Amino acid sequence: MKSFIENLPKAELHLHIEGTFEPELMFEIAQRNNIDLPFADVEALRKAYDFSRLQDFLDIYYQGMNVLHKEQDFYDLTWAYLKKIHSQNVLHTEIFFDPQGHTERGVAFETALNGIHRALEDGRSQLGISFGLIMCFLRHLDQDDAMKTLEQALPHKDKIIGVGLDSSELGHPPEKFTAVFERAKAEGFHIVAHAGEEGPPEYVKQALDLLKVERIDHGNRALEDTALTQRIADESMALTVCPLSNLKLCVVDDLKNHPIKKMLSAGLKATINSDDPAYFGGYMNENFIALAEAVDLTQVEIATLARNGFEAAFISDDEKYRLT
Ligand code: HPA
Ligand code: ZN
Repeated sequence: MKSFIENLPKAELHLHIEGTFEPELMFEIAQRNNIDLPFADVEALRKAYDFSRLQDFLDIYYQGMNVLHKEQDFYDLTWAYLKKIHSQNVLHTEIFFDPQGHTERGVAFETALNGIHRALEDGRSQLGISFGLIMCFLRHLDQDDAMKTLEQALPHKDKIIGVGLDSSELGHPPEKFTAVFERAKAEGFHIVAHAGEEGPPEYVKQALDLLKVERIDHGNRALEDTALTQRIADESMALTVCPLSNLKLCVVDDLKNHPIKKMLSAGLKATINSDDPAYFGGYMNENFIALAEAVDLTQVEIATLARNGFEAAFISDDEKYRLT
């Protein structure tokens, strides 16, 4: 089963590039930028990765990205991720970045964008990995800030294919961002949003009805509402599910209780993704393997989950055919 998963061609659709920051690289970049990390060493930093909710993780995640200043820092971060997934037979990746996590610290939008994008281009030419880049709005900030960020992205439509919504979910419902998503859609961006990770089914409904999402990131709590689950199935709306993230952030108490089989049997187009692999203990293969072992996935189920990743990707049918 392990080698079946390792050999399977995979597409990743839910990955925060800032969440791929391995402690070793974080210390290296901190040192060359003369920044003191509030941890003695890599070991001490890893020990801090003990979360009981999303916010515990986000506090450490934003602290980690503070060491990213130069374009080369963003390049090195992205390149390390691409090399890793290349070794795991990931053929296509659609990654998130959080521009406001950088611009609010005085790092230019283009510094982050160009570093990440240049690495993605090199990943395509040197490793054969196709990609899409999606920028997320931080939902703990207000809509005006998101709108300014959208305006910064407009000259870069050739590099950014979509917009998403991440950060602290509870208390920040999708409806807070209706206008900025309406504008993004009119500008031609693909639309996704985190919903139903910690937030209630109502947030998933808002993501569908108000933001007009094309995929739901996480979506676990949609299962609490039977009519909503049926609707998501009827619309063939994909969920980008992140098993190890769900475990580490206590969205599930045990991977054995992960609802992936419920999702599949309800007819949902579930995909498997790593979310923030440096913080949650694994990249694509580790997510597939841990989940398959915990809930006893069949080979057919594993292959379905991997195929769903390509089907739900923002690529042409020709490209899907080429990749699978
Ligand atoms: N949820 C919300 N915001 C995030 C996440 C997540 O899993 N990862 C990075 N930002
Ligand atoms: Zn996420």
